[in-house]
Amino acid sequence: MSEHKKGLRSEAWFARQDKMGFYYRSFLKNRGFPQDQFEGRPVIGICNTWSELNPCNSHFRTIAEHVRFGVLDAGGFPLEFPVSSLGEVTMRPTAMLFRNLAAMDVEEGIRAHPLDGVVLLMGCDKTTPALLMGAASADLPTIGVSGGPQLRGVYRGQIIGSGTNIISMSEQLRAGEITLEEFHEAEGAMNRSHGHCMTMGTASTMASMVEALGVGLPENAAIPAVDARRNHLARMAGRRIVEMVHEDLVLSKILTRPAFENAVRTLAAIGGSTNAVVHLLAIAGRIGVELTLDDFDRLGRDVHCLVDLMPSGRFLMEDFYYAGGLPVVLRALGERGLLKKDALTANGKPIWENVQNAPCWNKEVITPFEAPFKPDAGMAILRGNLAPNGAVIKPSAASPELMKHTGRAVVFETVEEMHHAVNDDSLEIDKTCIMVLKNCGPKGYPGMAEVGNMPIPQKLLREGVRDMIRVSDARMSGTAYGTVVLHVAPEASAGGPLAFVRSGDMITLDVAARSLHLHVDDAEMKRRREAWVPPTPHAARGYTKLYIDHVLQADRGVDFDFLVGKTGSPVPRDNH
Ligand code: FES
Repeated sequence: MSEHKKGLRSEAWFARQDKMGFYYRSFLKNRGFPQDQFEGRPVIGICNTWSELNPCNSHFRTIAEHVRFGVLDAGGFPLEFPVSSLGEVTMRPTAMLFRNLAAMDVEEGIRAHPLDGVVLLMGCDKTTPALLMGAASADLPTIGVSGGPQLRGVYRGQIIGSGTNIISMSEQLRAGEITLEEFHEAEGAMNRSHGHCMTMGTASTMASMVEALGVGLPENAAIPAVDARRNHLARMAGRRIVEMVHEDLVLSKILTRPAFENAVRTLAAIGGSTNAVVHLLAIAGRIGVELTLDDFDRLGRDVHCLVDLMPSGRFLMEDFYYAGGLPVVLRALGERGLLKKDALTANGKPIWENVQNAPCWNKEVITPFEAPFKPDAGMAILRGNLAPNGAVIKPSAASPELMKHTGRAVVFETVEEMHHAVNDDSLEIDKTCIMVLKNCGPKGYPGMAEVGNMPIPQKLLREGVRDMIRVSDARMSGTAYGTVVLHVAPEASAGGPLAFVRSGDMITLDVAARSLHLHVDDAEMKRRREAWVPPTPHAARGYTKLYIDHVLQADRGVDFDFLVGKTGSPVPRDNH
């Protein structure tokens, strides 16, 4: 067993030869652990988000077993523990409402227990940022293991992608182009294996962020959940975390400013989810790295989207893995001077050493930088009198002809009003209009739901319209697409200018100029502000009230104001 650099934190529990040592060892011995498990071995917490209520993480008991084997291989003592799991498709009103709650669970769970290092098992969208945020505030040696994407969806010989084809097929159903029977058949054909969404949606994007940040081992992002190599990676992570404890390689040595710059550029190069913007801001805030909304625009400007994956393109994560996966993308960035090559990663090597020889096996799936799938694909950060603190649009998922456009606003005060209106043929709207949705931000929904990609009104669908400009303080699913302006800050419910937009106002979107402008003069805006009645908060008690009272706006990562920063993992006082 290699020597650790400093005393093990767990010795404050297990090396005690007194009443408290008896407590701490004896109750664990009820599972049959011999005495030597408590002597000088790094205790590794396997932080598991397994839950039957979160189908994307339903295979995590198996992954945890492989991590356990790895920890034992390396002479550690593995102890698995559960934390809140956030199922994107099952939780209402939105899993995002509970991301910060899960992060608190993770942080406090790590600090309160006799752990020297942690393996984070992450999959469905919010589980990854929640665990990274909590672990960042605890700052022990930490390694991330993603659960991996599902196999491709295949429906009647056609490849279908999770989320992306739900959206397109529900539009086809509404337009009368497919039957309800076909719709039901496609449900079973889409999600046909363990794993998370297999498009480059939020889960795959965040798994890629884990790898780009250096928190996970190389290839973490793309190995399918059911591929044996996913279990192999889990075992290697179990071995590696024991070494990381010996090296005192805490998370803050990996989550540095260069690591975040690599993640932001990678986000552009994979055409990743807009959700990663709020999550990366929140994680950076926890670990103490200065990262701003404008960094996403500035760092992403020279970066092309290299991967032809849904929702922007044709292929799926399984294809991405077979083509070489994220190391190929990181290599391409490095060869163009767009990677901080010295950024340290969980395997103890600089990121460049991990990826510099990564081979690409399919140039259709991962295109060369000189002939990219989509040029200049970074997130565009918009500002203007409608979004003084910023808004986000993903140009690679938008329609080029709408990137500069002035249109008449059609405003919905709530998501329910919008859902009713888009199916009502009397709605006064045409394809040149700009749909505006309010009160769906962090405080307003609450939880900033993924409702920003509003459905195209039914009567326009029948005319063949498939995209329009949509503006809101909401997020959208990473599997969604369209000319959708999101994360408008401040949000309407917090009294942002979005609250004062009225149907009939004119709005100009100019992505090249990074501008979102409402053509209403300041005096009129002042009148509307004075007449504005804030919406009644959604909760008078409980967690939701805590959330509404303390959540930060989208430009600051939607974390709680009192959770920004880290406490580390000092050993708490004795419990008896
Ligand atoms: Fe879990 Fe998409 S629903 S990753």
